[in-house]
Amino acid sequence: MLVSLICVCAYIIGSISSAVLVCRVFALPDPRFSGSQNPGATNVLRLGGKFPAILVLIFDILKGTIPVWGAYFLQIEPIWLGAVAVAACLGHIYPVFFHFNGGKAVATAFGALLPIGLPLGGLLISTWLLVLWLTRYSSLAAITAVTLAPLYTWWIKPIYTLPVSFLTVLIILRHRGNIKRLLTGKEPKVGSKKS
Ligand code: G3P
Repeated sequence: MLVSLICVCAYIIGSISSAVLVCRVFALPDPRFSGSQNPGATNVLRLGGKFPAILVLIFDILKGTIPVWGAYFLQIEPIWLGAVAVAACLGHIYPVFFHFNGGKAVATAFGALLPIGLPLGGLLISTWLLVLWLTRYSSLAAITAVTLAPLYTWWIKPIYTLPVSFLTVLIILRHRGNIKRLLTGKEPKVGSKKS
């Protein structure tokens, strides 16, 4: 019962689309209908620059971390912590407050995995930064990091491998458009004028 309630709270917190709200505050175009049409930090970077993008990144990470930390302090079984993480990401992807038109949940999933420990967080962020630095594709950096996430988790905390694998599948499916653009050379690089 308590777990279901926490999952509903996680979904509701995940449903707060920080990209849409930050863009409204900064009078920027709605990220759901501009740029890559993804309400996430990368698209807000394209539309409004670094400051609003960093705000979105922080809020989106917290949307994953807060529910999982909350559940941890309420001494929820480890296996159910995974369900809370998935609920927060589903909220971000299918937000009840924004016509179920959400983002790709990369930052929210990262935030939800942070409570597993700094080694996992460090590996994920290093992978993301390395691929971004080598290619300047935010989507490719995210796809690579989430693809390796189950492997890293299995190595560091095997009990969470199943929910992390579920998040990997979910996030990769949300990147179908990016994958098509990457394969056809149409994906914009971070910092490029083309969107
Ligand atoms: O985290 C989202 C990123 O992987 C892709 O964003 O806006 O280029 O579709 P975008």
